[in-house]
Amino acid sequence: MRVLGIESSCDETGLAIYDTERGLLAHALYSQIALHAEYGGVVPELASRDHIRRTVPLLRKVLAESGTSLAETDAIAYTQGPGLAGALLVGAAFASGLAVALDKPILPIHHLEGHLLSPLLSPDPPDFPFVALLVSGGHTQLMLVEAAGRYELLGETLDDAAGEAFDKTAKLMGLDYPGGAALSILAETGRSGRYRLPRPMLNSGDLNFSFAGLKTAALTIIRNEKNNPRETLAQFHADLALAFQDAVVEVLTMKSVEALRRTGVLRLVVAGGVGANRALRRSLDMAAAEDKARVYYPEFQFCTDNGAMIAFAGAMRLTHGTTPQHPGSFSVRPRWPLAEEEGADTSAT
Ligand code: KG4
Ligand code: ZN
Repeated sequence: MRVLGIESSCDETGLAIYDTERGLLAHALYSQIALHAEYGGVVPELASRDHIRRTVPLLRKVLAESGTSLAETDAIAYTQGPGLAGALLVGAAFASGLAVALDKPILPIHHLEGHLLSPLLSPDPPDFPFVALLVSGGHTQLMLVEAAGRYELLGETLDDAAGEAFDKTAKLMGLDYPGGAALSILAETGRSGRYRLPRPMLNSGDLNFSFAGLKTAALTIIRNEKNNPRETLAQFHADLALAFQDAVVEVLTMKSVEALRRTGVLRLVVAGGVGANRALRRSLDMAAAEDKARVYYPEFQFCTDNGAMIAFAGAMRLTHGTTPQHPGSFSVRPRWPLAEEEGADTSAT
């Protein structure tokens, strides 16, 4: 079975071809970060228009790289949601049009299911079951993944996502959007112990998170320090970046370890852009090792949004007997909790 995957939920256009026997044959990505940077965030209308521009060239690229033709594709998977409505519509309409022209079935895929399954694309994939920490710009969730299609929500953020908190705090320091990675580089030269930010919901007794207060705490420190003499602005920002990162990392680590303990699972998978954060990786690795658990990270290129995870999730759905939709009609679901996904367990602890 060969599946073409199309991802267009936010600011990355991703296409890929996954073969259930031969694995990932090709994938291609176009990131719109530069397009949105001057606005300090994603502009939905610009995102949709750019997806339209990029999809056909990226399709040509994956076909050429994989040495396959559209006629050899068995199904077309696309991200149905959640995400920006207009951006999703581009991928959905493209997938549907292609499917009608080729008379192939289409598979609407939940974006987060793509992220949850992305570690399985690596050469050393985890076995089921595993706990997944999903930390992106739009989501922060802990999930129990028992099998493809069987997901249980363990906890999630009640306000900002971890990546969103990174980006908003980075913006306070004058860093370009999305500033998460730049903030973490700044933190490397920060002096430990200079500031201490709260650890929101660390002792809440559940597996939920809250990150909105951290940005406010950082803003308060920035305001307070404005009139105080300090060495350099750069050093101040580095110290604050480290304090902010320490707070996020500690909360994510403690809750992830607690999720492993509660479920009795010894495998933790980290997915989403914030999973690229080195301090988070160090902290999770150390904490998990104490409990004899192992942490799995998707390859960096599959940590962030990409088409490969959508093609792969589509292939898993096909092999697990999901009936694909007939082309001709399509829909998007900009707001779509994964718990409502077909076959997903809706219980939350
Ligand atoms: O998964 P992703 O590419 O996109 C979605 O949001 O779906 O995640 C992007 C997020 C952004 O908020 C970005 O600032 C953050 O991941 N990010 C990081 C790092 N690299 C990317 N946050 C902290 N440290 C990093 N090294
Ligand atoms: Zn994502």
